[in-house]
Amino acid sequence: MADASNNNAFVEFERVQKSYDGEVLVVKDLNLQLPKGEFLTMLGPSGSGKTTCLMMLAGFETATHGEIRLDGRPINNIPPHKRGIGMVFQNYALFPHMTIAENLSFPLEVRKFGKSEREEKIKRALDMVEMGAFGGRRPAQLSGGQQQRIALARALVFEPELVLMDEPLGALDKQLREKMQFEITHLAHRLGITVVYVTHDQTEALTMSDRVAVFNDGVIQQLAPPDELYEAPQNSFVAQFIGENNTLEGVVKEINNGIALVQLDDGELIDCKPVNVTKPGERTRVSIRPERVEFNKDRLQGGAHLLKATVKEFIYMGDIFRTRLSVAGNDDFVIKSRNAPDQVRLEPGAQIEIGWLPDDCRALDA
Ligand SMILES: Nc1ncnc2c1ncn2[C@@H]1O[C@H](COP(=O)(O)OP(=O)(O)OP(=O)(O)O)[C@@H](O)[C@H]1O
Ligand SMILES: [Mg+2]
Repeated sequence: MADASNNNAFVEFERVQKSYDGEVLVVKDLNLQLPKGEFLTMLGPSGSGKTTCLMMLAGFETATHGEIRLDGRPINNIPPHKRGIGMVFQNYALFPHMTIAENLSFPLEVRKFGKSEREEKIKRALDMVEMGAFGGRRPAQLSGGQQQRIALARALVFEPELVLMDEPLGALDKQLREKMQFEITHLAHRLGITVVYVTHDQTEALTMSDRVAVFNDGVIQQLAPPDELYEAPQNSFVAQFIGENNTLEGVVKEINNGIALVQLDDGELIDCKPVNVTKPGERTRVSIRPERVEFNKDRLQGGAHLLKATVKEFIYMGDIFRTRLSVAGNDDFVIKSRNAPDQVRLEPGAQIEIGWLPDDCRALDA
């Protein structure tokens, strides 16, 4: 961390800890650097410390230890009106006594924009969230989803360099939510805005972000681009939290040439990629994505270990088939296959053999 302050990070958390009560750390040793223009999402279960991190970055809470820097300067030394941060709070926080237009005008007035420029920016921001006709209403006269869209418009109206968003789409229906996801990412990239986004919706995190920080219990479990996070989870928590995942439990027998031989609890042996297991005798959870499991013998690689499986349930989902199997004592082993003309529809009760590439089968912490 010797060169921490002369790198070109735009936002930087260095060894940040936070405790509200002086006892429990809700954020533990957080290190994070964002270059300008990055879209970073904090993803994690309820209570894992996401909002706390945003509040510290916005300057509403102070770190108990460590430092947060914006463009190289400690955040606490920058007066709030010079921070250039747009923020969407988890609970909207619109000014109730002001109309919608006045809510949007406020950040512009603070920044000394003239009347005609304000009107033009307000119109553009309201149109973006499809709320152009609502400028004269007060927040209480809007639905939750509409208030959320206004909160979003207010955060973006002054084209800030940094935008912090805490679950900004939680109250929207699926269709509007997907449209707004698209709008937000495009707008951010077009204007070069740096975004720190908080959600507990993993699909949203994967589709919107340049990188995702997976939080659990005040610690970043993994920080990576979406494809890496999904395809190469570094531990069991991340594997379970991101996407659907099959787990088989067992013990590491040997590790040779980058392949771990794992004996599953029912006695079967399989080859895996050792991710965070290091030696024979260690217990492990083996993780395999449903779409990486193959049951068509022609498509299986020679030499791969095969496991016997019993088909429990076949679910037709339109674009894909989802089949539940019993494998090595696990009755919830799911495989997904594309609905192609030559795809087999497995019948419940059928006995099959399944396999996969050792690289797709990851031996993680138990
Ligand atoms: N003002 C506060 N005073 C005391 N404890 C707090 C305060 N704000 C949050 N906490 C605690 O800190 C922990 C982290 O809370 P935080 O709001 O950061 O979680 P989160 O990841 O945003 O969760 P959610 O997804 O539910 O919004 C929780 O255990 C919470 O109870
Ligand atoms: Mg929160």
